[in-house]
Amino acid sequence: MAYNLLKGKKGIIFGALNEQSIAWKVAEKCIEEGAEITMSNTALAYRMGEIKSFCEKHNVPFFAADATNVKEIEEVFKNSMNHFGGKIDFFLHSIGMSMNVRKSNKYDDLDYDYFLKTLDISALSFHKMLQVARKLDAINEWGSVVALTYIAAQRTFYRYNDMAEAKATLESIARSFGYIYGRDKKIRINTISQSPTLTTAGKGVKGMNNLMDFSDRMSPLGNATAEECADYCVTLFSDLTKKVTMQNLYHDGGFSSMGMSLKAMEIINKGYDCDHCDD
Ligand SMILES: NC(=O)c1ccc[n+]([C@@H]2O[C@H](COP(=O)([O-])OP(=O)(O)OC[C@H]3O[C@@H](n4cnc5c(N)ncnc54)[C@H](O)[C@@H]3O)[C@@H](O)[C@H]2O)c1
Repeated sequence: MAYNLLKGKKGIIFGALNEQSIAWKVAEKCIEEGAEITMSNTALAYRMGEIKSFCEKHNVPFFAADATNVKEIEEVFKNSMNHFGGKIDFFLHSIGMSMNVRKSNKYDDLDYDYFLKTLDISALSFHKMLQVARKLDAINEWGSVVALTYIAAQRTFYRYNDMAEAKATLESIARSFGYIYGRDKKIRINTISQSPTLTTAGKGVKGMNNLMDFSDRMSPLGNATAEECADYCVTLFSDLTKKVTMQNLYHDGGFSSMGMSLKAMEIINKGYDCDHCDD
């Protein structure tokens, strides 16, 4: 059910790769809620074809950019403003990639060139987008910016690897830039810390299915899906959340407040297969 929450608003969605992508779901919901959008990803992602068909189906312009390249980011903002005939109201940063994760490099045996690339693609790109938007004065007052993150920024999650540092930096950028953009332009910046989700990036984390099962058992409301994440993003882009800024907002069914649950204890007990394991 749509509520027209984004009627008249214009925004850019960075990071939709395929139907599983969180950004894909956000793009769909934004359109459903009355927004006009443009989309961006790498040229390679576009050539893979799925975003192309999304854009054709919804009549949405696509502007290619490597998120580490400031000039290309500038073009995305300029082209989007040209397309809309004015400023935007929101953008979504939904981008993450680690070659160390992809190559299964252990945390105590990292490749440092890859590490820098992880930080550049997954965190500094957020600062680059915000800085470009600020210099171009691309976002209307009371606009809203959201980036996606994961709880491994706060707590250690085996195998999340150098992405943990990237997410910690990303969240910090939201706070630091959130102050400046809020003070000067009333623009809010938040991160959403999402449950593990089966997407292309998600599947890159080894043992993802077990992590999802554990997380689901630990969360009183269960894991949040990509669609539910998109709903939450829409509220943050809408005028209903005008005074929420510089926050890391957990969207995880309660996982972040849990220590141990009955459902998680059940599988641990089974694993120990012992007599003294009580519920
Ligand atoms: N899937 C999960 O479990 C999960 C949980 C919490 C947070 N997140 C975060 O959500 C965001 C979106 O990931 P997703 O799960 O939808 O996976 P996804 O693989 O669908 O999206 C990742 C996107 O990053 C883009 N990307 C990679 N390198 C890029 C570059 N150099 N320039 C521009 N774009 C680039 C990819 O093309 C892709 O569209 C990421 O920030 C991810 O860390 C994911």
